[in-house]
Amino acid sequence: MKVTVGVSGGIAAYKAAELVRALQQHAIDVHVVMTEAAMQFVQPLTFASLTGHKVITTLWVAPESPDSNLDSAIEHIEAAQTTDLLVVAPATANILAKFAHGIADDFLTTLYLATTAPVIVAPAMNVNMWQHPATQANVESLAARNVRIVPPEVGYLACGMTGSGRLADTPAIVEAVLDVLQHRNDLAGETILVTAGGTREALDPVRFLGNRSSGKMGYALAEAAERRGARVVLVTAPTALRPPAGVEVISVINTEQMREVVLNRMREASIVIKAAAVADYRPAKQAEQKMKRSGPLTIELEPTEDILAEAVSRRRPGQLIVGFAAETQDAVAHGRAKLMRKGADAIVLNDVSREGIGFDSDRNAVTFLTPTTAVELPEMSKRDLADRILGEILGLRRPQKVITESSVIE
Ligand code: PMT
Repeated sequence: MKVTVGVSGGIAAYKAAELVRALQQHAIDVHVVMTEAAMQFVQPLTFASLTGHKVITTLWVAPESPDSNLDSAIEHIEAAQTTDLLVVAPATANILAKFAHGIADDFLTTLYLATTAPVIVAPAMNVNMWQHPATQANVESLAARNVRIVPPEVGYLACGMTGSGRLADTPAIVEAVLDVLQHRNDLAGETILVTAGGTREALDPVRFLGNRSSGKMGYALAEAAERRGARVVLVTAPTALRPPAGVEVISVINTEQMREVVLNRMREASIVIKAAAVADYRPAKQAEQKMKRSGPLTIELEPTEDILAEAVSRRRPGQLIVGFAAETQDAVAHGRAKLMRKGADAIVLNDVSREGIGFDSDRNAVTFLTPTTAVELPEMSKRDLADRILGEILGLRRPQKVITESSVIE
């Protein structure tokens, strides 16, 4: 495996040397690219000595020049094509902004644009720079393009301030690298249909019955599946999220529209994951004009179609169908009852009564329920959780499910 470590110009640049060593301990062939600013903090010789490879620092030195450290004039393309992963640590506010906006004015930024390999960034900067809306918008835009972010830690910063902005510890960055390398393309050849968001059932032209789903969990699953090589169809109810890169996105509003798309497109899917929060009831009648206020109002509701149960009834041999369940009490008992009633291969159970996880949060904790096992996946980012859930889903294909330490057979 060849991993390129990009070093940009912050005081934490010296920590990149430790990262290089740690990656090498996992039998990774590490190459280093530095920005001009990074060389103000650390000498390229440090990384050349550690890696045994020349360190690339510029696009511009002619290959025939005695100062050249380039093999050829299109080294960035070659580097882009041959690396299995690009990890930028530390990633400054400036480098994040350039990546986010496609500015390619040095070797590292050009390499980022030219590579199709997975990219990880580990930001490090002053707390105010990190929290600035411009930086946060850039990070969000990179995450939407499947760049994995290893967030900075809270602590004492070189600028003398205390707060978020310290480069993540080396083991956290190494873990992200190993995770990405391990999962690279393990879903190649799969077509995965994911549903996300909360359906809206119209009461009149301006009002609807809805729920608190933000779509974050479903989008994280779609992004993770795409990153791991799957073809992904995301059927989404309205959300405020950016469409994930590389994913076919089909927007729907209500349960009936979601049902039609899911039943139609599930035919081509090897795995169906129903993370959407779908309305169980809709108004029996939709008012044609905006309803006027006039004392107490009773609205008659009728049940919607159960898309998950219908999908299960149309399942092709070998096709995996996984539902989600949002419960507020006796979560495991209700989740298991739902699993049996709907006939899915597994249910990802959310206890949405817990603070800070579940609906509209960036973090979640779930129980992956099959008819015979209950695997606790503890609180983590929805992005990391998406990878864990995909791992559990792939595990369903194994004839004998491997019970992990955290598994409980009920
Ligand atoms: O979107 P986020 O803010 O990130 O929040 C994530 C989440 C909590 C919404 C998500 O992780 C989750 O739990 N989604 C399922 C919520 C839900 O609707 O659960 P349920 O118990 O009502 O439904 C069970 C399953 O049946 C779900 O897979 C649902 O998609 C499906 N269903 C439900 C009703 C219906 N008419 N048709 C369905 O297919």
